[in-house]
Amino acid sequence: MGRYLDGTVGGAGHAAAILAASAPSGRLFGCDQDGEAVRAARSRLAEYSGRFEVRQLNFAELGDWLDSGSIDGAVLDLGVSSHQLDVAERGFSLRLDGPLDMRMDERMSRTAADLVNELEADELAKLFFEFGGESRARGLARALVAERRMSRFQSTLQLAALAERVLPRRGRIHPATRIFQALRIAVNDELGRLDEGLRVIWSLLKPGGRLAVITFHSAEAKHVKEFGHRLALNYSIRGDSDIPEFRETKRAEMKWVERRALQPQRDEVLRNPRSRSAQLRVMEKL
Ligand SMILES: C[S@@+](CC[C@H](N)C(=O)[O-])C[C@H]1O[C@@H](n2cnc3c(N)ncnc32)[C@H](O)[C@@H]1O
Repeated sequence: MGRYLDGTVGGAGHAAAILAASAPSGRLFGCDQDGEAVRAARSRLAEYSGRFEVRQLNFAELGDWLDSGSIDGAVLDLGVSSHQLDVAERGFSLRLDGPLDMRMDERMSRTAADLVNELEADELAKLFFEFGGESRARGLARALVAERRMSRFQSTLQLAALAERVLPRRGRIHPATRIFQALRIAVNDELGRLDEGLRVIWSLLKPGGRLAVITFHSAEAKHVKEFGHRLALNYSIRGDSDIPEFRETKRAEMKWVERRALQPQRDEVLRNPRSRSAQLRVMEKL
């Protein structure tokens, strides 16, 4: 009887595929920090009633729910969902007019508008550079601070228009792409929660269990690689606290299932352009 975890259940595409592929006794535990995603996942999985449970939870808090050493396989499909991008009111899309929100968990208090209107110019520049890789971060932050003295930033299109005025266009990528990514990462503390979540989920796996992680940008990929490299270098995850810590051990506790990250083939990118930057890494607990 396999017990599987989807820590980013979203619209439940992966969760449904896991349930369809596993034996009738297989169980799926799913979580998402987004309440809308949780409702959508429960309804999509209705045909598997009795075999799954889905909760609204940040994957870094899974230790409150599941026992350590109880899971055979886990998946994280990081970042924003297509549903979140396509609903203007969520504020993730630089092409749809909506409030500058970007909270994945609607119970959180700080929105992208709060960051854009309240951070100092150097804090904004650091955020755009570190989380978005934006090389013109300083100039953009200065222009943003000058503009907000006249009127507060409220909407996605207002911010996208500023980026279009200040940043040069590179190919087909919209100049605001990097700063939208940076703000989303900051609002949701995505990298901090990822570091914690990887340690928590690793502690939930049984020996022989596997963790598959799909990343969509270099900062996420860097955190996943660093996590894996430490485990491959004689560190393990131990501890009774909510977020277990790295401890040095005598032997490695992890092996990479594929030596290199897997990337989508051309036909998949044509069918699903949002998959173009995806990288899949799989680790096995020894
Ligand atoms: C790319 S989508 C997942 C799509 C899903 N695999 C499917 O098949 O439909 C990412 C989802 O992860 C959720 N998410 C991102 N970070 C999270 C975290 N730290 N804890 C829980 N959910 C998270 C987002 O709210 C979003 O719904």
